[in-house]
Amino acid sequence: MDEALDFQLGSTTLRVVKGDITEHETDAIVNAANATLMGGGGVDGAIHRRGGPAILEECKQIRRTGWPDGLPTGKAVITGGGTLKARYVIHTVGPIWRGGRAGEAELLANCYRNSLALARSKGLKSIAFPSISTGAYGYPIEEAHEVALRTAINFLEGEDRLREVRFVLFNTRDHEIYERGMTCIIKD
Ligand code: APR
Repeated sequence: MDEALDFQLGSTTLRVVKGDITEHETDAIVNAANATLMGGGGVDGAIHRRGGPAILEECKQIRRTGWPDGLPTGKAVITGGGTLKARYVIHTVGPIWRGGRAGEAELLANCYRNSLALARSKGLKSIAFPSISTGAYGYPIEEAHEVALRTAINFLEGEDRLREVRFVLFNTRDHEIYERGMTCIIKD
């Protein structure tokens, strides 16, 4: 794993690190899925490739039993991790960027909030996020990273069950943006 930047928030460590989220061994890794939950490209494709068909089978079951019309934007569901190092995958659907006046920021915040709440409700201790919506969905990372970090920090105020929350960035530019953002927000 590349060098990580850690911040302590009460009993929770926030970690910003560059790498491939499918390599991470946190209790859960978060997938930037689409409403169908049937896989796709980007991190969705990587997770299904590395995790194997068991994950897709669970997603099909979730669609059948809970979300026949697809998972709404901002919601989160959980499956096993298949052959990934992580025990679980939390699938969430980020907003598609439409210029910033269609409620994208609140929908993106819901992705982080609902994923964290789901991890906590399952008694998980650690979770890793990719930069949701900043790839195919076109959300400018300069704005998305603030929503991601502030939402996580607000959620973790007074939280003592989640021990570690990671933000795993796939390239150097994104990593630097998140590192700078975390440094500024923590100093506030
Ligand atoms: N590990 C960590 N981050 C990754 C990885 C990986 N293996 N692969 C891609 N990323 C990063 C991208 O660089 C981007 O910063 O994840 C971020 C989100 O990009 P996307 O995966 O394109 O996700 P998103 O923008 O939310 O679009 C979701 O794309 O793959 C499809 O099925 C998915 O339709 C959905 C849409």
